[in-house]
Amino acid sequence: MTRVYNFSAGPSMMPLEVMEHARDEFLDFKGIGSSIIEISHRSKDYIAVASEAERDLRDLLRVPDNYRILFMQGGGRGQFAAVPMNLMVGTGKADYITTGNWSEDACTEAGRYGDARAIKADYRNDDGLISVKTDLTFRDDVDYVYYCDNETVCGVEFSDIPDVGDRILVSDVSSNFLSRPVDVSRYGLLYAGAQKNVAPAGLTIVIVRDDLIGRAMKCCPSIFDYKILADKDSMFNTPPTFCWYMAGLVFKWLKEMGGIEEMARRNREKADFLYGFLDSSDFYRTAVAPEFRSRMNVPFFLKDESLNDKFLAEAKAAGLTSLKGHRILGGMRASIYNAMPMEGVKALVSFMERFARN
Ligand SMILES: Cc1ncc(COP(=O)(O)O)c(C=O)c1O
Repeated sequence: MTRVYNFSAGPSMMPLEVMEHARDEFLDFKGIGSSIIEISHRSKDYIAVASEAERDLRDLLRVPDNYRILFMQGGGRGQFAAVPMNLMVGTGKADYITTGNWSEDACTEAGRYGDARAIKADYRNDDGLISVKTDLTFRDDVDYVYYCDNETVCGVEFSDIPDVGDRILVSDVSSNFLSRPVDVSRYGLLYAGAQKNVAPAGLTIVIVRDDLIGRAMKCCPSIFDYKILADKDSMFNTPPTFCWYMAGLVFKWLKEMGGIEEMARRNREKADFLYGFLDSSDFYRTAVAPEFRSRMNVPFFLKDESLNDKFLAEAKAAGLTSLKGHRILGGMRASIYNAMPMEGVKALVSFMERFARN
């Protein structure tokens, strides 16, 4: 068996140790004679898995007691709708800081439920790099302010939490969840689709402050109503049991690695290594201003774009896959989530050096 370094933006590489653990107990989970995917979500064996995963996540992120963790379905786009249906219920207004396609799409979706105003914060600076305005003004009477902490496609990440005064802050952290510590108490709500840093696709994790639960619009489907989910411990309907189990294994793996602080150190090191190389090269160029470069998704371009196909074919032959950039930005993109080891980034940089030389 040969495993490649897979730079996919999601679904993406999972930690090898987690995959091996899941494989080893796949047919017979802890001696019960059935697979974890074959048993009821209401069985005592499964409930133990689910609650342990929640406890581990709470520990890892130091989630305060007045926040609920919901294990939902519907992905990031489900939350584009669920967030306004649950929270845009006071004045019916929300301000959306947009820094790329995911926050723009979230704003458009929220517009179906109320007055969602886009505050376009991304722009091209004098060097043609994507940058982000930070002196933003918000309406006083919004139900919340929304932003995307890491724009997966264009590789724009916030290094600081935007200052929104005492307004409720909501963030889509789908593509940098668990990649660095986060002060949950600064947020009303955080959510992440699992398919990048947590688990296979199919699970969405929502961390929401107690007092924001229980106010959903009448039109909100029950499966998206945070109160119904919270009251039923995320088992109102059949949850994605395999994904939740896999998430639990990833949380254990993170704990064994030294927790989120250690993961953040490794992620910084990987990103610095890759950006350092890109900055030193006159064959490649980056897309984003240094202060806003994502540590997770690194878009880059060959200065001679006619070599793109050759680059991708040779990278693949060298065991480096899924480097093609998203169609919105073009070029290349290396997604280097938690599960990508430093060796993978080094292998990529060596290949890129070789390719440039040849
Ligand atoms: C930051 C971000 N938000 C939302 C989404 C949409 O997620 P989903 O495909 O789970 O609906 C994605 C998908 O890649 C994403 O990267």
